[in-house]
Amino acid sequence: MKALDSYGLEVLKLMQSHRNQSRKKTVAEIVDAKKNGVKLAVLTAYDFSMASIIDMSEIDIILVGDSAGMVMLGYPNTRPVNMVEMLLFCKAVANASSKAMITVDMPFGSYQNSIDKTISNAIKLIKAGADSVKVEGGEEISSRIEALVELGIPVMGHIGYKPQTSSMWNFTKAAGKTKESALKLLHDAKAIEKAGAFSIVLEMVTTEAAEIITKNLSIPTIGIGSGPICDGQVLVSYDMLGIYQNMKPRFVKKYLDLNQLIAESVQTYSREVKSGIFPSNENAIHMDSKEYEEFLDECGLRVSK
Ligand code: KIV
Repeated sequence: MKALDSYGLEVLKLMQSHRNQSRKKTVAEIVDAKKNGVKLAVLTAYDFSMASIIDMSEIDIILVGDSAGMVMLGYPNTRPVNMVEMLLFCKAVANASSKAMITVDMPFGSYQNSIDKTISNAIKLIKAGADSVKVEGGEEISSRIEALVELGIPVMGHIGYKPQTSSMWNFTKAAGKTKESALKLLHDAKAIEKAGAFSIVLEMVTTEAAEIITKNLSIPTIGIGSGPICDGQVLVSYDMLGIYQNMKPRFVKKYLDLNQLIAESVQTYSREVKSGIFPSNENAIHMDSKEYEEFLDECGLRVSK
């Protein structure tokens, strides 16, 4: 294993001191970040181990995205993932997070049906450890947002490319390329803000439209593929760490090629097992020698010297 260089040690120290400030980010702090001109860093996580690492960093929100369906379960898109599965991912992340706010995606079908169903599903996620929930859609979804916020459940909106439904219509291009499209986005963003959402994801929205929306809202915009002007950014952790390989959107910056590192490590492990290098003595557990002698005696296996 490589020793940490000075940058690595510095990061470790920062993470350790950050870890000691174990208090959860509040909705008010997320909203205030925009007022104070502080950018929000958001990353997805779906399991305890990854969320524990992410929570040690200065990440404001951990998003248990329904991208879990693709990244963790291998579904072709985000539509098949259901409440039972999302509740499991939510619990795993909630067990790990002591500082970042946890926002959990309401899966497709869990909030389209009726307001009552929306409320009962959101409550299930909150009981499983979510601090807030996210729903995709514009003005058409604002009554759902209003109902949840009225009951005290914080909601994050999501417009632009909406993975749950846009792919059914082959809408794979950026939103807000034309005046009409940009105006519709602005209208939807304002409706979501008015309904009481505390933040809004802008996915694959042109930089120009994202800038106007960001400047016209008092709640923070969190961009993914929507340029640098948004109040925050979100990425799928498995994309930015180079683990998930099935999709390579242009807007993802790969900070690591974990896929290759994991593949190399697995191959080395396999070779070492087959050649007997692993486990070595340092990985072994030994009996006390007296116990061993007595054990051999009991078994009638002591070899007389
Ligand atoms: O499901 C998800 O991960 C998301 C983000 C990409 C915004 O919705």
